[in-house]
Amino acid sequence: MSAPCCTPPPQSEYRRFFNRRIAGLDLRRYRRKGLPRTARDLVALAGDVEGATVLEVGGGIGTLALALLDAGAASATNVELSAGYEDAAAALLEERGLAGRVERRVADFVAEADGIPPHDVVVLHRVVCCYPDADALVTAAAARARGALLLTYPRERALTRAGFVAINGWLRFRRCGFRTFVHAPSAIAAAATREGLQPGPRSREGAIWENAVFTRP
Ligand SMILES: C[S@@+](CC[C@H](N)C(=O)[O-])C[C@H]1O[C@@H](n2cnc3c(N)ncnc32)[C@H](O)[C@@H]1O
Repeated sequence: MSAPCCTPPPQSEYRRFFNRRIAGLDLRRYRRKGLPRTARDLVALAGDVEGATVLEVGGGIGTLALALLDAGAASATNVELSAGYEDAAAALLEERGLAGRVERRVADFVAEADGIPPHDVVVLHRVVCCYPDADALVTAAAARARGALLLTYPRERALTRAGFVAINGWLRFRRCGFRTFVHAPSAIAAAATREGLQPGPRSREGAIWENAVFTRP
């Protein structure tokens, strides 16, 4: 019998794809160019984060949380499914003198969410597209957002879908169990609002990405 559509692949498949080599590339790109535009816009959409606690889900090497710390946030927790990022993240935290203000956990956020306390700001930058069950992921994130939930996810359009189908074909060819997804923005918004958040501004970034903010009234 085939697996249900929303069952995530094993953690090992995430580690295989989001591996130490990818982490090293992310670190080099960050050192050379800083945050990508979508991430810079999310930081701007976050508004005043002075003293806030930040939860970054699927943060990779954790650069978005670092930008929020730079903007005045007090501390950050990064919950990342792949252990492949840990060495690069530790090097970056050491370099920035921020190791004491960032806690890193390697876990599936959805599976471990019950053990993760609410934070003022919860961020998922290009993460919803990497998990099959968007409803469970966004619901768990929204439930832990005391103030704001910030998301970057793929725009729902034919061109984006075609690109993601091509990526999944390549992953299948490489016999990698990890897949990408274009989840409906309406389903993402429905999960966030069901948890008591209100939709805020959205912005579109080029052909692929959309940023959205939800705040707790
Ligand atoms: C495309 S990468 C983006 C990394 C980083 N946010 C960035 O924009 O550079 C997506 C990340 O989300 C992580 N991820 C996906 N689902 C997750 C989950 N349920 N819990 C924790 N991390 C998750 C993956 O392991 C991967 O590192």
